Amino acid sequence: MKGVILAGGRGTRLYPLTKVTNKHLLPVGKEPMIFNPIKQLVSAGITDILIVTSTQHMGDVVNLLGSGKEFNCDFTYKVQEEAKGIAHALLLAENFANGEKIVVVLGDNISDTSIKHSVEIFKKQGHGARVLLKKVGDPERYGVVAIDEKKIIQIEEKPHHPKSDYAVIGYYMYDHKVFDIIRTVTPSVRGELEITSVNNIYVEDGELEYDIHPGNWTDAGTIESLRFASEMMLKVENQMFYISGRGEA
Ligand code: DAU
Repeated sequence: MKGVILAGGRGTRLYPLTKVTNKHLLPVGKEPMIFNPIKQLVSAGITDILIVTSTQHMGDVVNLLGSGKEFNCDFTYKVQEEAKGIAHALLLAENFANGEKIVVVLGDNISDTSIKHSVEIFKKQGHGARVLLKKVGDPERYGVVAIDEKKIIQIEEKPHHPKSDYAVIGYYMYDHKVFDIIRTVTPSVRGELEITSVNNIYVEDGELEYDIHPGNWTDAGTIESLRFASEMMLKVENQMFYISGRGEA
């Protein structure tokens, strides 16, 4: 299984912090933000990792991360020339994946707990996709699930009237079909290829499974969530990465 970290985008919600640098290089606790997604994948035993980032900041990202030796993994890099959405960025990983299952991590998602347990379950899941959910206080900021009899029946992106308090967080696991599925989706009203559209196709095909992520989690894409992420990681940074998570199915 291979890993993909999506670290493109414009970071507009963090302006002017992101005027001359990439959001994923900003500090979270004592480390650059992108260290957390990297450690997340390595903690789950995934060491062949593609990093997708924007043209302007690729140089800085490579300067920071190098070959991956420091993290006990191997990095491959790919440029997303325009920020046309998470699914658009993921399509760049097709050749890298080369038919294998992949674990995708959004570069601004921060957790103190490993996704290892879910990755282990996904290894045994024959086909389809697997997402992680987390109960949140502000579901309208995320992709939100509607669940019936423990099955996800729909995901809505940033709904005005969320059907639950469970956000789909930025750790996604896919089989080889994901790239063909991305090619069938069309841009949303915000002009992006949405990962939620991709996940909904897996839902329609009856192939989307989930776990509840057991640890602390946040995105770090706004000033408020960036502060929260820093405080969260300062509490655990002296520990080995991280609490090993056992997800609830
Ligand atoms: O954090 C979880 C949420 O992330 C999910 O609940 C939502 O369903 C999902 O759409 C996403 O929501 P955001 O609107 O917060 O995503 P954002 O545009 O901030 O992008 C998240 C990361 O994806 C960002 O750190 C970099 C990467 N990205 C994003 C875009 C738009 C790219 O690599 N390329 C892109 O074009």
